[in-house]
Amino acid sequence: MQAIEVKSGVHWVGAIDWDVRDFHGYLTELGSTYNAFLVRDTKTVLFDTVKKGFFDDLIHHISQVTNPGDIDYIVVNHVEMDHTGVLPEVIDLVRPEKVFCSANGKKALLAHHEGVDWPLEVVANGDKLELGDRSVQFLETKMLHWPDSMMSFIAEQNLLISQDGFGQHWATSERYDDEVEPGELYYQARKYYANIILPYSNFIQKLLQTVKESGISIDMIAPDHGLIWRRDVAKIIDCYDQWSRQVTCSKAVIVYDTMWDSTRKMAKAVAEGIQKQGVAVKLMNLQSVHRSDVVTELQDSRALVVGSPTLNNGLMPRVADVLTYLKGLRPAGKVGAAFGSYGWGGEAVKLVNAGLTEMNVELLHDGLRVNYVPTEADLAQCVELGEKIGSAVNNQSACEIHGQSAAR
Ligand code: FEO
Repeated sequence: MQAIEVKSGVHWVGAIDWDVRDFHGYLTELGSTYNAFLVRDTKTVLFDTVKKGFFDDLIHHISQVTNPGDIDYIVVNHVEMDHTGVLPEVIDLVRPEKVFCSANGKKALLAHHEGVDWPLEVVANGDKLELGDRSVQFLETKMLHWPDSMMSFIAEQNLLISQDGFGQHWATSERYDDEVEPGELYYQARKYYANIILPYSNFIQKLLQTVKESGISIDMIAPDHGLIWRRDVAKIIDCYDQWSRQVTCSKAVIVYDTMWDSTRKMAKAVAEGIQKQGVAVKLMNLQSVHRSDVVTELQDSRALVVGSPTLNNGLMPRVADVLTYLKGLRPAGKVGAAFGSYGWGGEAVKLVNAGLTEMNVELLHDGLRVNYVPTEADLAQCVELGEKIGSAVNNQSACEIHGQSAAR
């Protein structure tokens, strides 16, 4: 691939990972990119590096712009290994004058790279680094996505280098938002938000407030993953505002697994009841749907309904998996219910209820259990449960948050 000049004197020099499909439990069905940016001024600065295994790509791209040995400074906006995996090799090659990071960044770098003697220079929120014609202002963004995280703002070019924030996992030869299909772009941005940023939504609200109050003008957001925002800067900021406020719409997600089809029959009947109330419903069978797509669908859904048969006095493994994953991502403001079939013990529904309660989901029902195979009367009860859920959420607005919901 080629280095791309994204602003005058600012080049994308990162790497494209066409192959990655699992990003700590997140299905990256379209791969990803590890973006790095090279700014050439009186001082030459590299912002972030790439994941281990992509050193040659990074150096190849830098070399298209300048001699890697000309790099004076490296800025580490975020220490997670997809951005610093090759940092030791880069520092060995470049021998930079300084490596800038946050105070937490220094701790994390030394924890990941024991015994190194790098010229680390800690910067704090609001610190400015003069490069020549440009300057960099550092913006601490703790927990977006790790405690060390910060962003770099180049005011003279209205450019925000935003590390994980505003990213998407999508390997493309295109580099800009206006060069790709918008439905896929917003789906991937939403999926990324739901799977990476969601637990830190309060921090996003604070960041957006800080940006608003500071009056800084941004006309390009360059994240460390995926496409660079140059056409839709205001729109993606607005999406982040909505997503971080966890705005929901008139929609329910039913996520379930099934053993001998009984719980699937129940799921379909619950969906019918929800639909009867004029509410959009997504049926997600965990045998064919990945946990990271469940949380993406759930993000704007008001209701979460979970079904599991009882297996060995417990949950079906995929249901336990998705409950653990969802709990960690802390979706807020949901109502829900549990259902499932059983043969003798019937513990699964109680366990799902416990999982939903731990997630602060407001339960609308004690949980619906069916022995072995649902009868017509049982299915009618499932429809009733669906109607109850539907009537509880049909006071929400229609699902039209920028139309992204319709992307898939
Ligand atoms: Fe892209 Fe939190 O690393």
